[in-house]
Amino acid sequence: MNPASQRVLERIRAVEGTGMRTFWEPEPLVWSRTEGCHVWDADGRAYLDLYAGYAVANVGYCHPRVTEAIREQAGVMTHCPSAAPSEMRAELYERLLDIVPPPLDRVLLAITGAMANETAVQLARAATGRSNVITFSGTYPGRTVGAVRYAGKHAYREPFGIAADAYFVPFPDPYRSPWAREGDPGKVALALLESALTDPASGVEPPACVLLEPIQGNGGVVIPPVGFLRGLRELCDRTGTLLVFDEIQCGFGRSGRMWAAEHEDVAPDLMTVGKGIGGGLPLAAVLGRSELMTTWEPDAVSSTFLANALTAAAGCAAIDVLREEELVERSERLGATARERLQGGLAGSPAVGDVRGRGLFLGLDLGAEEPDPDLAVQAQRELRDRGVLVGRGGRYGNVLILAPPLVIEEEVLAGALDAIVEVL
Ligand SMILES: Cc1ncc(COP(=O)(O)O)c(C=O)c1O
Repeated sequence: MNPASQRVLERIRAVEGTGMRTFWEPEPLVWSRTEGCHVWDADGRAYLDLYAGYAVANVGYCHPRVTEAIREQAGVMTHCPSAAPSEMRAELYERLLDIVPPPLDRVLLAITGAMANETAVQLARAATGRSNVITFSGTYPGRTVGAVRYAGKHAYREPFGIAADAYFVPFPDPYRSPWAREGDPGKVALALLESALTDPASGVEPPACVLLEPIQGNGGVVIPPVGFLRGLRELCDRTGTLLVFDEIQCGFGRSGRMWAAEHEDVAPDLMTVGKGIGGGLPLAAVLGRSELMTTWEPDAVSSTFLANALTAAAGCAAIDVLREEELVERSERLGATARERLQGGLAGSPAVGDVRGRGLFLGLDLGAEEPDPDLAVQAQRELRDRGVLVGRGGRYGNVLILAPPLVIEEEVLAGALDAIVEVL
C-alpha cells in the first residue's frame, strides 16, 4: 500500500468500530476524489470504477449539473424538517412520479434502501391486515434490523441475533438452480409459491406481500427467466397478495430500461428506489398506488432528515440528467455491446461459467462446475492492480459484477472489457 493511503487507513482503523467493511479487506482502496467514471486514491492513482461505488453513480460521480444543484441549494436551505412541506420536496415528488409506472402515484421518502424496504413492507401489512412476507433466496434488502429479516444470507443476521421473518422461495437463477432439475426454474419457483399460497395445509400464513428484486444485484446479477415476473403478478392478483419490487439497485436506468421490471412489462403495487436516485446523496423512496399509500394516520412515518432539501435537489438533478442525457438508452446500447464482447472473449474459458446481463448491469459467474469465489477475489484484485474496479457478489461470492456509471465513454469501457477478458 502506498504511504498516504496507509496513513489514512491507520487513522481510521485506530478508532473505528470493527463492524465496518473498511476492516474487511486487508488493503481497501482509500478514496479521495471522484469524477465521472473515475476514483482517485489518497496517493493520487486513478481507477476506472466499473461498479459505480456499489451501483450508485448511475449519472457519474460529481456530475456538473448535480454538483451545481447541490451548491445552489446549499446556499438557500439544507435542512428542512420532515414535518414541513417545501417546494424542493414537491419538485422531487413530481419528478419521481414522472418516471415510475402508471399505477404508482404516491411517494413516501426514505433515506436508505433498507429504510425504504421496511416502509414498503409495513405499508403492505397495513393495507392487507396480514403480516407474513414472502421473499426469495439471494434477496438483499439492506441491513437494518427490520430489513435484514428478509435477507437471503443468514450470515447478515447472525452478528445481531436476529431471526428471519419471511417465507423464502428459491430465486430462479437460469444458470444455477439445481433444485429445478431439468425444469424451467421460473416455472418451478412459481409452482412452489402457488402451492404455498393456495394449499390450505401449506403451513404458510397468507402473506401481505411478495418482496423481490426484478434482477437480483448483490445476489449476482441474476435475471429470472422470462415469464417469471408476469407469473408472480398473476399469482399475487389471484391471492390478494401485494407485489413489491425492490428497484434500488437494478432500477434507475441500470438495466437498459428505467425500471428492470419494464423488460417484462410488469408493474408492482409498491416499489422501492434508492442508490443512484440521489445523484450521490442519501435518498430513497417508496412509490405506490394511492389506496396502499393512504392507510396511515399522519406521523406514522418520520425521521429527522427524511425531507432534506439538499438530497432532494441532488435527486431532482440526477433524474433530469438521466432523462436529458438519455442514459437509459445508452445503458441498453452499451450494455448489449459489452455483453457480446464478454461472451465472445470468454467463450470456452474454464474459469467462467456464465456471462449475463441487461443494459450496463453485467455478471460474470465464475467457476464452470462449482462456484469459484477464490478466483473472483483474485480477478477483482488483479483488475484493481490494473486500475479497474469491479464488484463481487453472488450467493457464494463468485460473481464479478459490472455496473459502471451510465455515462462511461465507449472506448474506455471497451478497454476495460479487454482487461477483464485478459485477466480471466
Ligand atoms: C437491491 C437492494 N435493496 C436494498 C439495498 C439496501 O440499501 P441501503 O444500503 O441504502 O440500505 C441494497 C443495497 O445494496 C440493494 O442492492
